[in-house]
Amino acid sequence: MHGTRTSLRFPLGRDEDIYGFGLDFQRVRQNGSILRLHVDHWGGRPGRTHAPVPFWVSSRGYGVLVDSARYLDVWVGTSLRRDAPDPPPLLDRNRDRNWQAQPSSDSLDVLVPAPGVDVLVFGGPTPLDAVRRFVLYTGGGCLPPRWGLGFTHRTPTSYTAAQVLAEVEEFERRGFPLDFVGLEPGWQSHSYPCSFEWDPERFPEPQGFLTALHGKGVRANLWLNPYVRPGSTLHAELAPYAGSHCVWNGIVPDYEIAAAREIFTGHLDRHAVSLGVAGFKIDEVDGFDSWLWPDTATFPSGLDAEQIRQTYGLRIQRLVDDLYRAHDRRTYGLVRASNAGASRLPFVLYNDHYSHPDFVRALCNSSFCGVLWTPEVRESRTGEEWLRRMQTVCFSPLAMLNAWSSGTRPWSFPEVEEQVREVMLLRLQLQPYLYTAFARYRFEGVPPVRAMPLVEGFATVADAAVRRRFLDDQFVVGDALLVAPLFAGQKKRSVLLPEGDWFDFVTGARVGGGEVVEVGSDTLPVFVRDGALVPLMLPRLHTPAAGERFALEVRHYGRRPGSYRLYDDDGETFAYERGERTWTTLRVERDGDAWRGVVDGPEPPRIASIRFRFMTPP
Ligand code: GAL
Repeated sequence: MHGTRTSLRFPLGRDEDIYGFGLDFQRVRQNGSILRLHVDHWGGRPGRTHAPVPFWVSSRGYGVLVDSARYLDVWVGTSLRRDAPDPPPLLDRNRDRNWQAQPSSDSLDVLVPAPGVDVLVFGGPTPLDAVRRFVLYTGGGCLPPRWGLGFTHRTPTSYTAAQVLAEVEEFERRGFPLDFVGLEPGWQSHSYPCSFEWDPERFPEPQGFLTALHGKGVRANLWLNPYVRPGSTLHAELAPYAGSHCVWNGIVPDYEIAAAREIFTGHLDRHAVSLGVAGFKIDEVDGFDSWLWPDTATFPSGLDAEQIRQTYGLRIQRLVDDLYRAHDRRTYGLVRASNAGASRLPFVLYNDHYSHPDFVRALCNSSFCGVLWTPEVRESRTGEEWLRRMQTVCFSPLAMLNAWSSGTRPWSFPEVEEQVREVMLLRLQLQPYLYTAFARYRFEGVPPVRAMPLVEGFATVADAAVRRRFLDDQFVVGDALLVAPLFAGQKKRSVLLPEGDWFDFVTGARVGGGEVVEVGSDTLPVFVRDGALVPLMLPRLHTPAAGERFALEVRHYGRRPGSYRLYDDDGETFAYERGERTWTTLRVERDGDAWRGVVDGPEPPRIASIRFRFMTPP
C-alpha cells in the first residue's frame, strides 16, 4: 500500500501469454501492454474500452480478477524491479543485435487507487477452465430467449409504425429471416436527452403496433440512452436522484438508489415491457469524455463519478434484466458499456466503430472476460464486403443489421442477395446448436464464441510464433465450428487448424488438421471438428414459438464417432431455472462400414423428428 493506493504484483513467466483486460480492439495477447482500464468508446488510449474488465487469463491456466470499480493502471510484463527474480539478460546496445528498448519483465503490476482491494485467483487447469470459473463465479452466462438468437434488423431512426411494419413484411416476402426489429431514437417524442415517451405522430398507437408486429412473428427492441429530458414526466420524478452534471442537458439518475430504480423500471414497464416490448438497446453509457460527466461530478448515493462511470452500463443492464425477470420473461438486448460480472446479464456489446478486422478481434477478446459482442453490419462499399460482414455477424452472439442511419436491407446488394439469404437462413438453422452453446455458457461458464487460446488442441499446435498470428482473426462457435472470416479484398486466407482433423462445414470433406491451411474466397470459411455432431433445423424465417415442435437434422462430420448433448427448454421463461429443461445425448457410432445415429433417452418434447446426416463418408 502507498497511502490511499494499493499496488499489486503478480509473477509472469517468460513463456507465459496473458489475455483479457476487457474488450480491446487492438490486441489479443496483452504482454507488453500498459493499460488504464476505463469505460469509454473504442480507440485512443490503451485500456479504454466498452468493457474494461479487470480480469485476465494466463496461458499457464489460471485467471485473476481484481474486484474494483476504479480506473486501474496495468503493466503487463513491462516493469522490471531491481530485486526481480528472473530479469531479462543484460545486453549491450553497441554490440547485441537482440537489444530491445522494451525488454520483457517477470511481473504483471496493477495499481489500484484505493487503500485495499479483493483479488480472486481462478484455477484451471486450462485457460478455458479459468474463464469458466470466473463466469460461474459471477453467476454463470446468460441464456437468451430462443428468438434472441434469430436475426435482428434495426430500422432507420425516423421510421413510422407503418414503415416499420412494411419493412417487416418485405423481409417475409423476400424470404429473409427476422425475429426482432429495433426501433431507434425516433420511437421517442424527443431524444438526446430522452423523453422515454412514444412519439404521438410516428407511433400513435404503440399497443396496436406491437400487436401487429407480434402477429407477424416479430418482436420489438427499443433504443434508449439514460439521460432524461427536462419537461418529461420521468424528469420530474427522477430529478431528486440525479447527479450534479448533465449529459446533453438531460439528468443522470443515480441507480445505486433503490427509489430511482423503481421509478425508472416502473416507467419502462408501463410504457414498453407490459405492452410487449421484448428488449432494449442501452446506448451511450460508455461515453466520449466530451459529453459524459467529469470525474468531479457528485452523485446522491455518495458513489463518486469514477465508480458511476465504470458501472453505469452494468447497473442499467441489471435493472432491465430484473424487470423482465419479474414478468418471468427472458430478454436479450444491446448495451454499449459493461464490466466484470456482466456474464449473466442478457446483453451484447456493440459500437459505432466499423472496421471488420477490429470487430473480429473484439469477438475474440470478448471471450476472455465474460461479455458478448456483435460485429454488427451497417453498410458496405461493395457487395463482397457486404457478404463478408454478413457471414461474420451470423456466427456471432447477435446477428444484427443496424440500418439506423444507412437504411440498408439484407438485399441491398443484389449481386450477393442469394448468398446473404443463405447465410441468414443458416443462422436460423443453427438455432439448436447455438442455443445449446448458450446453455453451456449459462450452466458451465463456457463462452459460446471463443478465441483460439480457449480452444482444445490449440496450445499444442505449431510453435508459439505461428500461433500468435492466429489469435485475432479466427474463433470457434460452440465446441465444433471454427470460423475464419474473410475480409473484403481477400481472395484467400490462411487458417490455423488445431490438433485433430477438421472438415468443411458445407461439403464434409477433410480440410486438414494441426496445421496452417489456405482457404479460398468461394467457400464459407467454417470448419468442423472431427467426430462433431451439429444439430440443425430446417430453413425458416422465425425461431420456433413457445410450444412449437420442429424437425432436427443432426449432421455428423469426420471419421470418428461422436456424441453431443442437446439442450432444450421453453425458450422464453425462467422455468428452466426451476428445473424444466432437458439434455438429450445424441450419438453417432460405427455400424460395420456405415454410421448409425442414436438418441439416448427420450427425445425432447419439442423435437418432432430426428434425422442423422453423415457428411463425411466412413
Ligand atoms: C449511436 C449508436 C447507433 C445508433 C445511434 C442512434 O450512439 O451507437 O447504433 O443507435 O446512436 O442515434
